Amino acid sequence: MSDRGCPQLLERITARIDAVGAIPFAEFMALALYDPQWGYYNRPQITIGRRGDFTTASTITVDFGELLTDAFVLMWQALGQPTPFTLLEMGAGDGQFAAAVLTYSQQMHPDFFAALDYAIQEQSPTLQQRQRQWLQPWGDRLRWLSPDTVPDPFIGCIFSNELVDAFPVHRLQWQGTQWQELYVTLNAQGQFQDVLHPLKDDQIHQYFATVGIDPQQQHYSDGYRTEVNLQLIPWLKQVSQCLQRGFVLTIDYGYPAHQYYHPARCEGTLQCYYQHRYHDNPYRFVGTQDITAHVDITALERYGEQFGLHPLYITRQSLFLMALGLGNRLMAQQHTNGNLRQALSRHQSLHHLIDPLGLGGFYVVLQSKQASLRLPELDAVGSRLPL
Ligand SMILES: C[S@@+](CC[C@H](N)C(=O)[O-])C[C@H]1O[C@@H](n2cnc3c(N)ncnc32)[C@H](O)[C@@H]1O
Repeated sequence: MSDRGCPQLLERITARIDAVGAIPFAEFMALALYDPQWGYYNRPQITIGRRGDFTTASTITVDFGELLTDAFVLMWQALGQPTPFTLLEMGAGDGQFAAAVLTYSQQMHPDFFAALDYAIQEQSPTLQQRQRQWLQPWGDRLRWLSPDTVPDPFIGCIFSNELVDAFPVHRLQWQGTQWQELYVTLNAQGQFQDVLHPLKDDQIHQYFATVGIDPQQQHYSDGYRTEVNLQLIPWLKQVSQCLQRGFVLTIDYGYPAHQYYHPARCEGTLQCYYQHRYHDNPYRFVGTQDITAHVDITALERYGEQFGLHPLYITRQSLFLMALGLGNRLMAQQHTNGNLRQALSRHQSLHHLIDPLGLGGFYVVLQSKQASLRLPELDAVGSRLPL
């Protein structure tokens, strides 16, 4: 495999550009990540965790899934303990989060477990296969929904961790007094390169209006680059449509719009992950590296409201997990009599989850539809951050 990436995928994207001319970056990113055969998330080699290109909270420790199970139980109680309570996980990676939730709720919350209807929506057939293997012990306690259909409305919660940052984004560049969009073309050597096109998509202007950014007032310098994640709009619409009553819990890294589109953030947030190193060149390791962009948290809130989702809490992962009892787990660790190496490793993992410069700084967005939930520990720290 060359440093350019997967030869079959390079050929496929090149053929597409030869056929139609330059393509929007969002289309390039969709092919690089989700081409059904050669896209990064569909390759047989895709691995999330220490042996892959990046780790997520779900792959670091079962504590993440266990603490969030306590949140799902609170949601179930707030809804009047319905049976079934559907928990739809979108973008479930290799299934470790689901395994933690099912194991812990079976042991610690049997009533909740009896009511739980765990569903997964996963676009990658390779990862779906991995999930089916990993989650085999739970057999018919789980179901997989087709990624192309909107499920019938249910009562419960829709959960995702690091899903939205994996949606293909449009890249923009400020030139003079207006945006131009970055497209991908081929140079004389047949390698991918950026080319600017006038911005055609009116949706992007509407997007900025929705998140409260007037680009003309921002004093961007020439060459300022940023991203817009338009896919989160139909995604939120679908999420709201399939929720009859309940909650949407979204965890991801990002910024509120005024920070995301701040003139000082002149290189945008696009990042590529290859074997636990990150860089900003999406045209290397095509199909063998992850490509992501930070999430505009204001967009999650504002579009959610447009589609009938009420923002309950917008907070940081560190605060959210502490409110769910992570501190108690750390304290309990101090009295462990067992294997010291294991105890240290778990202690470190718990700290990872709340590290303000890492996972602890991720945003937790809790929205609701015809439902309410109060977490007194979060209320006490005034956790609904001003966006
Ligand atoms: C960065 S991984 C996160 C995996 C997992 N949530 C975790 O915490 O380890 C992104 C996941 O979202 C999936 N995905 C991306 N777009 C999706 C979509 N539109 N619908 C469902 N799953 C999607 C990917 O295949 C992958 O499983």
